[in-house]
Amino acid sequence: MNRMKRITMSIAITLFLVGCKAEDKKEEGTVTGDTIRIGVILSMTGGTSAFGQMTWNGLQVGKSMRSTVLGKEVELILVDNKSDKIESANAAQRLIQKDNVIGIIGDVASSNSLAIAPIVEESRIPHISPASTNPLVTQNRKYVFRACFIDPFQGEVMAKFSYNDLKTTKAAVLTDIGQDYSVGLSDAFAKTFTKLGGRIVAQLNYQSGDQDFTAQLTAIKQTKPDVIAITGYYTEIALIARQAKELGIKAVMIAGDGAEAPELTKIGGDAVEGLYYTTHFDEKAVLTPLGQRYVDLFRKEHNEAPDALGALGADAYLIMLGAIEKAGSTDSEKIRDEIEKTKDFQGVTGVMTIDSNHNALKSVVIRQVRSGEFVYVASVKP
Ligand code: PHE
Repeated sequence: MNRMKRITMSIAITLFLVGCKAEDKKEEGTVTGDTIRIGVILSMTGGTSAFGQMTWNGLQVGKSMRSTVLGKEVELILVDNKSDKIESANAAQRLIQKDNVIGIIGDVASSNSLAIAPIVEESRIPHISPASTNPLVTQNRKYVFRACFIDPFQGEVMAKFSYNDLKTTKAAVLTDIGQDYSVGLSDAFAKTFTKLGGRIVAQLNYQSGDQDFTAQLTAIKQTKPDVIAITGYYTEIALIARQAKELGIKAVMIAGDGAEAPELTKIGGDAVEGLYYTTHFDEKAVLTPLGQRYVDLFRKEHNEAPDALGALGADAYLIMLGAIEKAGSTDSEKIRDEIEKTKDFQGVTGVMTIDSNHNALKSVVIRQVRSGEFVYVASVKP
């Protein structure tokens, strides 16, 4: 079965399950239903659909590694947020009120997780974002956690790598002002790059969905940067790279985790060759036995290299299950408390400890596009 078909099938099965179970009543604090229901909010369609699909695939692999807790089958109820903030908030409402989920996993894009957060806070339902890296997602929230590092660290690694390893001193920064993630990451990059002695020679903006970047790139070209940091998501990064190449811009390009999708090379082609990006996982840098098991299973099922998003999806799921198990019940307060206590968890993407701000302390992985492949370059510890 090809990948798209498999994804469509899993959605169909999940939707079928939603339909069947909608009448069951949830009883707080006890394990009474047939299944343990966890809501999943992901961008299965829309601007960042690659993120949703990769995360869902990884979650399914995670589920094949562990599918029961408290002696019951886990039921994942997937809702597509169509890569949209309002849809994300609506999805959270629906999962909590109608489907009676005991926890929520999702989304990837920080702006969407930021839309989910107030709703889970109010309903007191534990929420783990697998991959949202903007610090505000978990800040001052009691029920919101993440399975990844945050952007002040990611931006610092991007800047240090650019300045110390690539020996660049003049940077241009391109920010997607429609995404909280991009705004925060650009800021972190610029701060560290300047602190190290580098200069930010241009700072320009665009919006998710834009297709023409000629104005920004023409302005950037005049400032002669030796590195261009693009902090948005894969589609725009790929288009920017292509247009930069057409304009004869030779600067090396660096992006954050938002670059990670097969579409980067599909859309970007030759123009993204040599581009560096920071991310969360690479099978060449597996740190735990669970990570190795995940890689083997993923390769067997998908016949391709595992991506960071899937690995983080599996981690978010396994952290949630571990917490439910330790809580010994479906009581959301107890589950929340157990997620907060996560320490030295031997996850898929590494050993995780959730800190007091509900962030995971983990290494950043640096990769480069070479011959259309994402190649492991280095890992940087916090
Ligand atoms: N970190 C990105 C955000 O917060 C999401 C992302 C994570 C994208 C990992 C790709 C890979 O919006």
